[in-house]
Amino acid sequence: MAEQKKIYKAAVIGCGKIGVEEGLSGKKARPATHAGAYKNHPRIELAGLADTNPVRLRVASRYFPGVPLFKSAESLLESIKPDIVSIATDTRSHAALTKLAAKYGIPAIVCEKPIAAAIKEARESIIACKKSGSLLFINHNLRFDPIFKEVKENIEKGKYGKIIQATVYYYNGLFNNGTHWIDILRFFFGEVEWVFAAENKATEKKSLKNDLSADVLFRFKNGTTAVWQSLPPDYGFSEMYLLGEKGGLFFRDNAFRLEYRPLVAHKYFKGFHQLRQKPKIRGKMRSFRMQMADHVVKCLDGKEKPISRGEDGLADLKVLFAMKESVRTGKIIRLKK
Ligand SMILES: NC(=O)c1ccc[n+]([C@@H]2O[C@H](COP(=O)([O-])OP(=O)(O)OC[C@H]3O[C@@H](n4cnc5c(N)ncnc54)[C@H](O)[C@@H]3O)[C@@H](O)[C@H]2O)c1
Repeated sequence: MAEQKKIYKAAVIGCGKIGVEEGLSGKKARPATHAGAYKNHPRIELAGLADTNPVRLRVASRYFPGVPLFKSAESLLESIKPDIVSIATDTRSHAALTKLAAKYGIPAIVCEKPIAAAIKEARESIIACKKSGSLLFINHNLRFDPIFKEVKENIEKGKYGKIIQATVYYYNGLFNNGTHWIDILRFFFGEVEWVFAAENKATEKKSLKNDLSADVLFRFKNGTTAVWQSLPPDYGFSEMYLLGEKGGLFFRDNAFRLEYRPLVAHKYFKGFHQLRQKPKIRGKMRSFRMQMADHVVKCLDGKEKPISRGEDGLADLKVLFAMKESVRTGKIIRLKK
């Protein structure tokens, strides 16, 4: 007889844009929310949704009719006792809610990025999850994606040669969107040695409190240099280019599409090289959220190890705060060992 696989109970705290509002994303990127991913995953039952704002709860009930609604995180955790809980609230409440979920001994806690509003809080979240035995995942979604995982393996195998330069265009704040880029760059290249950042008021999003827009130059310990250029709010252009000794990787369309262009002999200049005109193209619009849900299930099954842990979120946050410090002081900031 076929083995019955466990169905995991999942719940979402925070019924906003990334928590439940599926309709805000294009159809091809759906499920685009935590609740949508859990609802659609064959091994998960979406068992509850919580928000302190009753308007948001009403919207949630339209997206996910019949799913129990709760006015507070505590009441949800108390009555549902989920196996998986997503924390999709504003950043300033991430740490308190992570610690609350750990107190309830929730086996898998998926906290939205960034892990917390302060380094001390991030540390507290990690410690609380260690104590309760909860797996803590930070939703830096690019890590869950097979194409990004393959690129990491290829970098490690030397397929592109050493990556010399990484260029990122981003918008909507260092802590809000920049966090995705620092996380994926650290995934590829390891730890950062120093950062040098200059605020860019022209690209600032005023409504993003406690965030800033900056252009940044930084160096990884492995020698790769990275440059970030900020763009105006909602510019919609978020791309990353990695130039290696053997070719260039171009993550386009908000990272949904990857173009690889190997280095070939130059058409006109003898002894020089150029990137091949015709790229090899991978990837299309897809659901990063579904990949997260799938990874969490595999970790709970014991088949995978968390790929985006609290420790990763903390290391990302330290780099972001170093960038902020560089803006404040006008100096190069070296990351502590
Ligand atoms: N991974 C990604 O690609 C991605 C994309 C967008 C947003 N985010 C992150 O997700 C988080 C939420 O962003 P959003 O755009 O969905 O925000 P949002 O404002 O649309 O939704 C947040 C919701 O959380 C609720 N909330 C706040 N405190 C709460 C509490 N203590 N208990 C219960 N509910 C509470 C609010 O009422 C609101 O409905 C942010 O940290 C953001 O950085 C991540």
